[in-house]
Amino acid sequence: MNIAGISVRELAEKYDTPLYVYDFAKIRQNARRLKQAFLSDDVEVDFYYAMKANCNPEILGIFISEGYGMDCVSPGELRLALETGAAADHILYTGNYESPADLQAAFNAGVKINLDDISSLGRLLEVGKPELITYRINPGKGRGKYEQITTGGDKAKFGVPYEKAIQAYKKAMDVGITRFGAHMMTGSGVLDEEHFPRMLELFMDQLGEIKKALGINFEFIDMGGGLGIPYYGDKKSLDVERVARETLKVFRRKVRELNLGNPTLALEPGRYLVGDAGILISRVTGIKNGYRTLVGIDAGFNTLIRSALYGAQHTILVDGKEESEPTMLADICGQICENTDIFAKDRKLPETEEGDLLIFTQAGAYGSVMAMPYNLRFRPAEVAIVDGEDKLITRRETYEDYISRFQRI
Ligand SMILES: Cc1ncc(COP(=O)(O)O)c(C=O)c1O
Repeated sequence: MNIAGISVRELAEKYDTPLYVYDFAKIRQNARRLKQAFLSDDVEVDFYYAMKANCNPEILGIFISEGYGMDCVSPGELRLALETGAAADHILYTGNYESPADLQAAFNAGVKINLDDISSLGRLLEVGKPELITYRINPGKGRGKYEQITTGGDKAKFGVPYEKAIQAYKKAMDVGITRFGAHMMTGSGVLDEEHFPRMLELFMDQLGEIKKALGINFEFIDMGGGLGIPYYGDKKSLDVERVARETLKVFRRKVRELNLGNPTLALEPGRYLVGDAGILISRVTGIKNGYRTLVGIDAGFNTLIRSALYGAQHTILVDGKEESEPTMLADICGQICENTDIFAKDRKLPETEEGDLLIFTQAGAYGSVMAMPYNLRFRPAEVAIVDGEDKLITRRETYEDYISRFQRI
């Protein structure tokens, strides 16, 4: 198999496994396709890259050069976004149970602050009073590919419940804050085009109520991310042009009907932009024929946690045998000492042997960023393919990196 014209086998030999590899041209293409889909004469649309999906600075650089702002969720992300060249006024800081130190960092940086709760406002005011704030509103509904990534609705831990939103904005007005945005992020990995305009309609109706009660003109309305990509077993990809068309229609109509002024529409996608541009290459280290057939590989949930965390299923190809008949039924497991370190159960595979390379596709988002050195198996390297050349963009973590944090007493 090749990625962007480079053989996966050569990459594995050169950089060792497990290894993340990204096709940078594909990332740029995704960034442009989404912007193009939302291009409109009468609605200003602003894009923030959700850097939590993959925060390698070279990847952030692509989005900055394509005119994207940054969606940050921690002081660490904020610092990296700024150091990589994102403009402070094009950064949205969306915390969750923000500490005073978190809010201090966001306030000092002069970025837009999106508060997770009414109580967050009190903590922010201890630090300073920005001219503009946003609240992350939980509109009471949400949808994600898995329950674990559904971030709106009454089971979610995020945001100000809609019923308290008027009170939240009122409190901010009462202390003299004069400029406002509104934000929701209700779930991730959605492949249903209709979901996005439907959620926006519900949300904008709620904003209409806030406007009626308080007279606020929102400067921007952020509909979050959540645009899905097809993983193993999904039958379709997301038609982003249709999402854009339908969403813009709702946006225009609701702005008019509810007299919402002249807000910008904002989006903060992560997965859609980088997910399908990355693969994870791993090597088969052992095959066991016991109660079940178990194919063991040198990646585990320490490398790619999505399966252990959400039960997410990736397409897994055996290099050089992509066209071979699947003759084996096997579980695919990592080396971590946890029984949850299983990527797939009863997966059909071609005849697979020790030393074969297993390739996880759609591994560009929420992959390397969630890697951890559990069991002292260190974090993988990352390589970018740029103009037909492979370039190391993150070196493999070493034993020395890890133990340098220990202090003997
Ligand atoms: C606040 C916020 N914005 C944007 C995103 C990006 O979501 P996605 O990768 O599904 O587009 C997330 C993901 O969890 C998020 O929490």
